[in-house]
Amino acid sequence: MRDAQPNTKYLKDYTAPAYWIDHTELTVELFDDYTDVTAQLRIRRNDELDAAGSLTLDGQELELLSVALDGNTLSAEQYQVGDESLTLSGLGDQHLLTIRNRIYPQNNTALEGLYRSGGMYCTQCEAEGFRRISYYLDRPDVMSEFTTHIIAADGQWPVMLSNGNKIADSVMEDGRRRVSWHDPFPKPCYLFALVAGDLRVLEDTFTTMSGREVALQIFVEPQNIDKTEYAMDALKRSMRWDEEVYGREYDLDVFMIVAVDDFNMGAMENKGLNIFNSSCVLANPATATDSTYLRIEAIVAHEYFHNWSGNRVTCRDWFQLSLKEGFTVFRDAGFSADMNSATVKRVEDVQMLRTVQFAEDGGPMAHPVQPDSFIEISNFYTVTIYEKGAEVVGMLHRLLGEEGFRKGSDLYFDRHDGQAVTIHEFVAAMEDANGIDLSQFKLWYKQAGTPVVEAASSYDADAQTLTLTLRQHTPDTPGQTDKQPLWIPLALGLLDAAGNDMPVQVEPAEAWTASSQVLHLREAEQTFVFHNVSERPELSLLRHFSAPVKLEYQQSPEQLLFLLQHDTDGFNRWDAGQKLMLHWIEQARSGSFSLSDAEQTALVSLLQDDQLDKSMLSYLLNLPSESYVAEFSAPVDPAAIHHARETVRLAIANTLLPHLAERYQQLQSPVAYQPEPQQMAQRALKNLVLSYWALVSSDGVTAAQAQFEQADNMTDQMAALLSLVNYGSDEQADAALASFYQQWQHDTLVVNQWLSVQAGSSRRATVASIEQLLQHEAFDWRNPNKVRSVLGVFANQALVSFHQSDASGYALLADAIIKLNGINPQMASRLLTPLTRWKRLIPELSALMRAQLERIQSQEDLSKDVYEVVSKSLS
Ligand code: TRP
Ligand code: ZN
Repeated sequence: MRDAQPNTKYLKDYTAPAYWIDHTELTVELFDDYTDVTAQLRIRRNDELDAAGSLTLDGQELELLSVALDGNTLSAEQYQVGDESLTLSGLGDQHLLTIRNRIYPQNNTALEGLYRSGGMYCTQCEAEGFRRISYYLDRPDVMSEFTTHIIAADGQWPVMLSNGNKIADSVMEDGRRRVSWHDPFPKPCYLFALVAGDLRVLEDTFTTMSGREVALQIFVEPQNIDKTEYAMDALKRSMRWDEEVYGREYDLDVFMIVAVDDFNMGAMENKGLNIFNSSCVLANPATATDSTYLRIEAIVAHEYFHNWSGNRVTCRDWFQLSLKEGFTVFRDAGFSADMNSATVKRVEDVQMLRTVQFAEDGGPMAHPVQPDSFIEISNFYTVTIYEKGAEVVGMLHRLLGEEGFRKGSDLYFDRHDGQAVTIHEFVAAMEDANGIDLSQFKLWYKQAGTPVVEAASSYDADAQTLTLTLRQHTPDTPGQTDKQPLWIPLALGLLDAAGNDMPVQVEPAEAWTASSQVLHLREAEQTFVFHNVSERPELSLLRHFSAPVKLEYQQSPEQLLFLLQHDTDGFNRWDAGQKLMLHWIEQARSGSFSLSDAEQTALVSLLQDDQLDKSMLSYLLNLPSESYVAEFSAPVDPAAIHHARETVRLAIANTLLPHLAERYQQLQSPVAYQPEPQQMAQRALKNLVLSYWALVSSDGVTAAQAQFEQADNMTDQMAALLSLVNYGSDEQADAALASFYQQWQHDTLVVNQWLSVQAGSSRRATVASIEQLLQHEAFDWRNPNKVRSVLGVFANQALVSFHQSDASGYALLADAIIKLNGINPQMASRLLTPLTRWKRLIPELSALMRAQLERIQSQEDLSKDVYEVVSKSLS
């Protein structure tokens, strides 16, 4: 529920708080039907402000019981209770403020604040959830030392956790048990956490680089204790990596992770007590796929890395969110790259950036990495803040080099330890440590929209020069026009006819950094001349995707094929292949597609390649997704894209067909399943081969059936199920789905995958079948993972089914959003994303989608979350 007109908050309006809270003593008493919270706050006037002795605390859906100042209970006239606030006036310099209030965790379906998930209590306070637990200054620049007491009936919740170290655990005179925790590191309340439940624990230890022993604990519900090993392993590897690569050591005596089933996001970095969506931490070979293992490794690392990039140094305000998120995504990407194949990791990240983030940047919710306004901060946990933010940090890394970047991050952590700072301070540390002026670079944080770089080249054989002209512009985005040229690091190479890198000698010389092979584009238009170029080279531009831009450069299919076969930059090999395949899909759309002999030969030799990493091969042989194709067409016609892409897929499969059975057999492995890179790569390629084979041959479907029945791990079983569902007969598909459900119905995470297979299949998913899934016993509107598995997957993956010409797909999603608006506003708002793209669709679909947005907008009691996205989409 909201006020009539939700307020917009602006970065420019930032003011420091009137009071600090030096110490917070929180007593949380758990009862069956309610929870009582007592906050004892030691407050101190902020003497940098000319404050009037007035303090307004945030609070939401709290039942206020009492307020006391320095031990004296106040009468109701001595404070003012607003809808979402508590105001005290006439205060002095320092006080002990005691506030008691009651909350109802069992009714909390928004999953912000303290709530019940399955058989346990847990919290989610970022960004503004703490105000649903207690009246507080719920803003990240107020950092406080926390002591937390949890009280419950003795024996009811064997495990009761909060941040920091456990300092007491006893049964009180009234027979209730009280457990106390103390966190010595001052922190903003968004990092507060509390957990109570009947949980099992996996324990281990880690010895830090200075020789301190840290206890590591992963808490789960009893049935999940056999799914905790991999996360523990990933945690220890993350701790070691952060010491080695960033010199960062863990600081408390204990580090805890808790898995919960109901969670709005992936995981949360609460100090010393990370809380995870169970889908991002639990795994064993029988139930988790390789991609789940990779996700777990990345998210465990991400949350752990936040201990420094986020917790020890935190954000001054939520406009600085990317300060911690962009940097931490960059850090976890570095970790994953070191643990697995760096090129594959880059391909995966760029795939995501170019589909999801570019779409966001080109739509109504486009915003800078440092936004200058928002209505609801939960709407700004976006791919722009996270992934584009990480790209910006990555460009700094490229500009400064490994060593210079490390000097900058050391200075940043050292200078700002214990502080709440802004993105400016991060860049300033990089500047000061390296003696470099990054003022132009900082535009990356301020300007929204994806920059377009146009490249044109010409070769002069007589002069042996190559001239490269680069032009950049950034399109207008809502509220932002007339953008300035950015500092774009463009990594590149020149290939000779044999595919070898030629030496590069550029004019102007200062625009070239030889160590990183980077050309610095800093103006709207610049021309560069390469000297001593002895033959006409093939240009390989934007290697490693060195900047988050759209590159426009004319290349013929022959040139792309050459790069696909010869580029020494693994990323650009893949990218050339994607561009070539995009060209095929465009040809298929215009009805003039066929593979040339050279193209067919190249595909077959990729399939049979024994040199390249197999995971890389599986990416090289995979077509760009429908959403990627959509990014490059205007207006978007989802059905036409789907059919063209299917035509090309069929042609590729038929080209490869004579070799598929043999390659599939070769890629089988007798070795027991391990979630390790080599094996994962082999399975990825094998299962890609299987999907092409099943697409064009009944032998392939038979192989899928056998693999489905015999698989001893979920990666192979799931891949086989997908092939049966998409390419088997209707009977085979139905039977496989039924037997899979029969086998796994008691494992909620596996059932989620089963829901996704159906919701995401263009062949199976119809509006009627999605409605059936929503009625299924396995579905639950209150569980975000279920909602994502059915509705999120349907609207984002089964594009032909979602974009029905009778609008039934849109109406189904809109109904779900309206329903979820009252249950979980964050979920409702996230589900809106596909509807915000209406302006890019062909006119007949565009109008239908818009009508559904208007229907949502006309509802009463729209949450701030949904209101913001709907109104911005329609304006
Ligand atoms: N800080 C979390 C992260 O690691 C994000 C997060 C977790 C979150 N749960 C949330 C954000 C709930 C908003 C609401 O990225
Ligand atoms: Zn994060």
